This record gives sequence, structure tokens and C-alpha cells, in this order.
Amino acid sequence: MITLPGLIDIHVHLRDPGQTNKEDFTTGTAAALAGGFTTVFDMPNNRKPITTWARLQEKMIIAKKKILGDVGFYFGSLGDNLAEFTRVKPLVFGLKLYLNITTGGFIIDKKQLLSIYKAWSSEKPILLHSEEEMVGAIIDVVRKTGQRSHFCHISSRNELSQIMKAKQEGLPVTCGVTAHHLFLTIDDARLFGPYVQMKPSLKSRRDVDYLWTHLRDIDVIESDHAPHTLAEKESDKPPFGVPGLETTLPLLLTAVSEDKLELKEIWRLCYDNPRQLLKLPDIKETYIEVDEQEEYEINDQELQTKCGWSPFSGEKVRGRVKRVYIRGEKVYENRALVKPGWGTVLGAD
Ligand code: NCD
Ligand code: ZN
Ligand code: ZN
Repeated sequence: MITLPGLIDIHVHLRDPGQTNKEDFTTGTAAALAGGFTTVFDMPNNRKPITTWARLQEKMIIAKKKILGDVGFYFGSLGDNLAEFTRVKPLVFGLKLYLNITTGGFIIDKKQLLSIYKAWSSEKPILLHSEEEMVGAIIDVVRKTGQRSHFCHISSRNELSQIMKAKQEGLPVTCGVTAHHLFLTIDDARLFGPYVQMKPSLKSRRDVDYLWTHLRDIDVIESDHAPHTLAEKESDKPPFGVPGLETTLPLLLTAVSEDKLELKEIWRLCYDNPRQLLKLPDIKETYIEVDEQEEYEINDQELQTKCGWSPFSGEKVRGRVKRVYIRGEKVYENRALVKPGWGTVLGAD
């Protein structure tokens, strides 16, 4: 048995409010605990995007009643809500901007980028969904403004090499990678069809190998937990996204058991750097106990996520979360939630 700090996932979509047929705060945080994440940060692309103080307030009130672990939030912008920034800044951990098409149709006009950046201007980061050539566009704006910026779910050699250069230049940029972009390739996209349609799309073996070889230049692992129902995935227009909260740590621990990854990298990518990035305090007596020897097959029936499926179902993994403690209280044990109502909304006074 090994003990790790309660892990932090800086990128999840818990879908509450608005799309609770896919997930809600209770099932989403249950999935987080089952996967070893005691703290998660929820994105603003709800059905009604979180682009006003009032919607943020409403979301935080709903979360408080339903969460099982700790949750923090980001604010969103389409460039028309700059006046809200001052009021929401103390409540959120960053601003999220979408520069490419993805779930929610929440994409900004590139011409607005600089004015959004200037209006935000904060120690708290701007997080970006920006793929391929949009990475360069953001780097230019970071150079002009000096604003801390985090590139979410980078997936290709082209993206990572641009970010590595920006870091060498001394720009305040960080980046994250998801487990699906580390453990799946375009060949899996052919095999699993709509179930592995996500943004960014899966990449070639060459890109995936590049991410692994340059893991030191990647700051965090983020699940980008993006649940959609089976019916939606099997429809004519399957939405983008895959759930990931319950599979990220087992996949990483399996890589450790196969000598592909050092255990201390899990600390760095899923705890130390997320904490540094969002300037989080150390939450006392918050840790997970993991049986690093236990082997099992990921299967839909055992998942806590409401969507009830995983692109990794059928995969044999090694390493299972046995117990989770938050602020000294045992909240999860042997696949069961033992202490509901113990989560905190971070940033709320
Ligand atoms: C995400 C979702 O479903 O909210 N989808 C995805 O494919 N990653 C949105 C996002 O993170 O881009
Ligand atoms: Zn995204
Ligand atoms: Zn996302």
C-alpha cells in the first residue's frame, strides 16, 4: 500500500447545472474520489455558460449542496462580459477561453483576445483551449501582456514544441496533457469510433511518443473529464469528449509498474504543479491510500460517473485507490462513499 497526497485535477466538466443527464456534482465528485482526486476544478462551458457573476453564484450554491470532495471553478468569457471580471476574480481560480470548436459552441472571436487579456490581467491564470496554430497566437498575446497562461490538453509535437520555446524565452506559460492523449492514438480512434471523438482529437504514435519523451516539459496531467451519455455518443452527431476521472490514476500507476514512469512524476503532475499553478494551500490530512499491486479490468459497471462508460473499459490496469481522506475524515473506502457532504467549494467565503 502506498500513500499519496489527495490528487488535484485542474480540468473537469461536471455538467451541473444544465446537463445533469450526463453528470452532476455528486456523481462527478464521486468519480473524482474513486480516481484519487480530492480536489477538482470545473470548467465554465455549462449549457448556460458561466459568464456572469450571477450564474457563477448559482453554480457555487448548487455545488455546495451536492459535492463529495473539494471543487473550485473557472470563469468564462466570450469577450462581452469584461465588466464582470473584477467581481468574480476573488471567487474563481482562472479564466477559461475557447479558441477552437468544442462542446458548448463557446468560441471567442480572435480579435477580442487582447482586450480580454488586458481586462483579466491577474496573478490568476488564463486557461486556453487552443490547438495547433492558435498556440502561437496565444504566445504572442502572452508576450505582449505578461499574463500567466495555461494551455489545456496539448496533444501534438507541434503544440508542445512551441510551448517549450516560449518557456525558454521566459514567458509565464504552462501546459497540461490528458491521459487519453498519452495512452491512446489515432489508431484507437479508428477502432472505437464516436467513443473516442474528443477535442483535441487523438494523434499519431509519433506525436504521442513526443509527449512521453518530453514529459518533463509538461506541467500537469488533467483528465478533461467530459462525460456524455451513451445515447448521445451513439447518435448521428456524437458530441466531443470522454470521461477520465476514474481512469487517469490507474493508467499512470500501470505505467509506473511497467517502468515507463516514475512514481514521483505522479506527485509532480497531479499534485505539486497543480497546486503551484492555482496557488492552492496544502489541505491538511488529505491523502489517498493506493494498492499499487492490485490488478483489475476497468469496467463500466464499477464506474461512479453518471455516464457509465469509459474509453478504457476492458483495459487491464495495476493500482487501485482503496481509501481517501479529506481533512482527516475518511470519505471513500473500497469503492464506496462513506462520508457524504464533506466537500468544500473553494474560493467561496
Ligand atoms: C469538452 C466537453 O465535452 O465539455 N470536450 C472535449 O472533447 N474535450 C470540452 C473541451 O474541453 O474542449
Ligand atoms: Zn478543451
Ligand atoms: Zn475540457
